[in-house]
Amino acid sequence: MAASQDKIALEMLDSEKIPKHIAIIMDGNGRWAKEKGLPRTLGHRQGMEALERTVEASMDLGVKYLTLYAFSTENWKRPKEEVGVLMNLLIEFVDKKINELNKKGVKVVHIGSKENVAGKVEKKICYAESLTQNNDKMVLNLAFNYGSRQEIARAAQIIAAKAALGETKAEEITEETVEKYLYTAGMPDPDLLIRTGGEMRISNYLLWQIAYSEFWVTKKYWPDFAKEDLWQAVYDYQKRSRRFGGLDE
Ligand code: IPE
Ligand code: IPE
Ligand code: MG
Repeated sequence: MAASQDKIALEMLDSEKIPKHIAIIMDGNGRWAKEKGLPRTLGHRQGMEALERTVEASMDLGVKYLTLYAFSTENWKRPKEEVGVLMNLLIEFVDKKINELNKKGVKVVHIGSKENVAGKVEKKICYAESLTQNNDKMVLNLAFNYGSRQEIARAAQIIAAKAALGETKAEEITEETVEKYLYTAGMPDPDLLIRTGGEMRISNYLLWQIAYSEFWVTKKYWPDFAKEDLWQAVYDYQKRSRRFGGLDE
């Protein structure tokens, strides 16, 4: 859990130790709405505001990769109406925000499967990716129709196909080979993984990539997540000792 702290200020952060890659499980939209007597879908809409704030605050901190869990491969189990709203929100997000993100130098990358995704949604994602492909201020990975097990199984399929063609041999397959066929190929692993909504689980997110990520959970629901919460997470992260299986210096 997040440590209870006095009020956090930007000056409290060590600018030399900003996480290069932050991944977030944006959870709690439904409970946020329910507690207010509102439909769940309004929670998702409000969550978009938090998303915008967080992108901005991450850029201001100098974060280079921000990976946001927007829709999991398991979220298809939800009522059709809710799934529809989430799909439409993605379209709306691209329509309303992509020019601004592009101006700021954000490169949008889709991580996840295109399977089951409607053509109009896929088109928007492709548009956002191609418009922003040459930007280099920050990479915004949208984990959409993303499931980590699907990602790893897909990598295995690609590697097996290469082996069948004689392009690689079983004994040549290393951790680097697997990494190369993940959606996040070539990107650094997340340094910090944030989950809102208080659940202490990973929910099929970045299983390979978070091997040594620092985990930070807040009970706050995603629509209430403020830049100060991001600062607090980074502040706590900076106090941790990352050993990667070794010993402290
Ligand atoms: C996270 O909020 C958004 C998505 C999973 C798309 P939830 O919709 O899971 O909200 P809770 O967890 O039910 O409160
Ligand atoms: C994880 O949240 C997925 C996203 C935030 C998109 P869920 O609400 O789907 O996770 P569970 O079901 O509580 O594990
Ligand atoms: Mg949830």
